[in-house]
Amino acid sequence: MKSSRPTYIPALKYRALTRYYDWVVSLTTREQIFKTALVNQAAPLAGQHLLDVGCGTGTLTQMFAEREPSLTITGLDADSGALELAKTKFASMDQRVSLWQGFAQDMPFETATFDVAVSSLFFHHLTRLQKLDVLKQIHRVLKPGGRLHIADWGKPSSSIQRMLFLLVQCLDGFETTRDNVKGVLPILIEEAGFVVVDSKDCVATPLGTIQFIQAKAH
Ligand SMILES: C[S@@+](CC[C@H](N)C(=O)[O-])C[C@H]1O[C@@H](n2cnc3c(N)ncnc32)[C@H](O)[C@@H]1O
Repeated sequence: MKSSRPTYIPALKYRALTRYYDWVVSLTTREQIFKTALVNQAAPLAGQHLLDVGCGTGTLTQMFAEREPSLTITGLDADSGALELAKTKFASMDQRVSLWQGFAQDMPFETATFDVAVSSLFFHHLTRLQKLDVLKQIHRVLKPGGRLHIADWGKPSSSIQRMLFLLVQCLDGFETTRDNVKGVLPILIEEAGFVVVDSKDCVATPLGTIQFIQAKAH
């Protein structure tokens, strides 16, 4: 039984800083490069239903919407402030994009709803148990054979990258980021019932190494 309502770490740790998130991420993470790579890797097909977990201010969500106008897209995030910023990006789109406020450990979606789930820079906001809970939820809401595509901080590709990542750890916390540094995420993904298809690709950034993980639901 869950004893208390879960909490979450906002995009830049403090809710008051969320309004600066897009600016900070575009300056510090080679955002266009790694998010474009994630969009190309996920390559959803026309008419599919895509879930963006921890969508935040909706930058990645918007890239998927622009790539394939016939997608039905759902973004989920715990932070209403981030979702308000996201909404402004979809104001002029007639495409089916819906944004939900909620905890990813307890998704408000029917089982077997989505063809593809994507997520960027989200899992390092979760403890190991939360990571596993969220991955099980994603597995539940994906259709059988559905695909999961993640880009998040992974094992640093050099000692300099390891040092740079300390900045992220100081901001987002050591407990939630430790497993990312150890490269544990693919193991947790398999534990949640997925087959990891690929986890070798990565991009070095001014704040550390972003790893791409592709998995398939059984
Ligand atoms: C660093 S931001 C990433 C946002 C976006 N995906 C991107 O790539 O720019 C992490 C987001 O995860 C959200 N978040 C953290 N814990 C969450 C949880 N348990 N459930 C849902 N969202 C959560 C935060 O509110 C924040 O918007």
